[in-house]
Amino acid sequence: MPAQPSSSGYSLLHDPRFNKGAAFTPAERSALGLEGLLPGSIQTLEVQVARIHAQLEALDSDLQKYLFLSDLQGRNQTLYYAVLMGDPARFMPLVYTPTVGEACQKFDHFFRGPRGMYLPVTARGRLRDLLRNWPERDVRFIVVTDGERILGLGDLGAGGMGIPIGKLALYTACGGVPPHHCLPVLLDVGTNNHALLEDPLYLGLRRERVRGPLYDAFIDEFVHAVLENFPGACIQWEDFANFNAHPILARYRDSVCTFNDDIQGTAAVALAGIYGALRIKKEKLCDQRILFLGAGAAATGIAELISEAMTLEGLSMEEARARNWLYDVKGIVTSERGDLTDFQRPFAHDHPPVPDFVGAVNALKPTCIIGVSTVPKLFSQPVIEAMARINQRPVIFPYSNPTSRSECTAEEAYVWSGGRAIFASGSPFEPVRYGGRTLIPGQGNNVYIFPALGLAVLATGATRIPQKLFIRAARAVAEQVSDSQLDSGLIYPHQSRILEASLNTAARVAEMIFDEGLAAMPRPGDIDAFVRGFAYRPVYPVYG
Ligand code: NAI
Repeated sequence: MPAQPSSSGYSLLHDPRFNKGAAFTPAERSALGLEGLLPGSIQTLEVQVARIHAQLEALDSDLQKYLFLSDLQGRNQTLYYAVLMGDPARFMPLVYTPTVGEACQKFDHFFRGPRGMYLPVTARGRLRDLLRNWPERDVRFIVVTDGERILGLGDLGAGGMGIPIGKLALYTACGGVPPHHCLPVLLDVGTNNHALLEDPLYLGLRRERVRGPLYDAFIDEFVHAVLENFPGACIQWEDFANFNAHPILARYRDSVCTFNDDIQGTAAVALAGIYGALRIKKEKLCDQRILFLGAGAAATGIAELISEAMTLEGLSMEEARARNWLYDVKGIVTSERGDLTDFQRPFAHDHPPVPDFVGAVNALKPTCIIGVSTVPKLFSQPVIEAMARINQRPVIFPYSNPTSRSECTAEEAYVWSGGRAIFASGSPFEPVRYGGRTLIPGQGNNVYIFPALGLAVLATGATRIPQKLFIRAARAVAEQVSDSQLDSGLIYPHQSRILEASLNTAARVAEMIFDEGLAAMPRPGDIDAFVRGFAYRPVYPVYG
């Protein structure tokens, strides 16, 4: 249960956790000292939702809509989630990507009021005490960023706070995680963004970023302060620079309930897409050969999870990794290269040089190409045609975001492959008419994974989040795509039914948490019902 209202009347109307606005009943108005503080008409939640829709219609830009919804979240939480959960496919792009990117960039100029917790490096030694200032005691999910690599926008310092806030809104709206369990956190360790440092309106610490042992100690203090204040809370690391993200995950993943959505959630949603494609192709994962365009964080994270999933079908890890190839600015990533990171090395194989990416496709004969290069148009006509020559159903995943950076469009993939491509992208594309059929592109959005994982972790009290949970989540997502959706090329569930998809995925993940002995409670008889019992619904409480 969320904290109970501590006061009545006027202050109740200004606490978003309890406010019902015009929906307070006559009896509540009388009992809580609200008479005279509200217009006379008693309204239902449905009417209030309709009013929000009308108000949104009157706004011109997505940023204005973002700000309007943000104000609503700060005024009436139930109404906010009723709006979002009524049409998640429409509201996700408004409360999260792409709109949240602009909101983070303009955070200091549009700042209306605090939400979540700001933990500055200047408070080191006192984080335990600062976390006590949060009004909810049963925090189960913390999404935390240090603002250094916000989406593709770089270092936004304290403005990065928009990301944990938006992501946690999706935990609730798309996965049913109750909002009172959620805490957005910004670790303010400074910024190297000089435009921000020189902006008089900048809200964060005015200093260069802390690095090295001091940074590590601050992260460590944060983790321990969380464990002490909110035992059992899951920490999700979000939008840290790659050189911090990987070591932080490696340091805590085996001892704390934690994960990194940029690394693991991305990998899981890509794997879900491949499982979906394999349902169309009627083939096994262990027989696939994947070629990544790009060899950065996304590529290596996805390649690693695919390799682990291949081992579940009988391959050794070495055999599995040998089926995953990377191609970057210097060509195929081969073992003799001296510039490789620890994360690239497992996927560096022996191969003579090739002149270009189409040469790599012709030489390696991949069944699937995944674009995570950040460079548009690299899945050119010759590349797609080569894939279509090699494969009856070529799997083409241009995952680079935003749309302007996609390695190809859905239409290009379908047209150049003669309608045979199985397509999914990082950013959404409209359906395409080809050969008398309507082909529906999938969007590999992490939202298929993290909210469901969150609900499963909440319901079971999971103590760790091993990789196999992400593989289970990916499989569960793919299993939910209907045969008729597969016929139209769609390999992910419709975003309009994301909550239902998440509840199903959460149940399958919860099953594995119990199977693996990671749950903090005994296994219930009906896991589906058990998980659904935890899911938040935007319904007003009755006071009195
Ligand atoms: P990164 O910067 O770590 O890696 C980019 C890689 O692409 C590097 O290996 C670079 O060498 C390579 N590259 C750049 N130009 C190239 C060229 N002309 N030819 C071949 N390779 C080239 O970036 P990160 O974090 O791996 O992300 C990559 C992309 O994936 C981004 O656009 C991001 O938006 C997208 N992404 C999509 C996700 C999703 O849709 N669910 C999730 C995560 C990332």
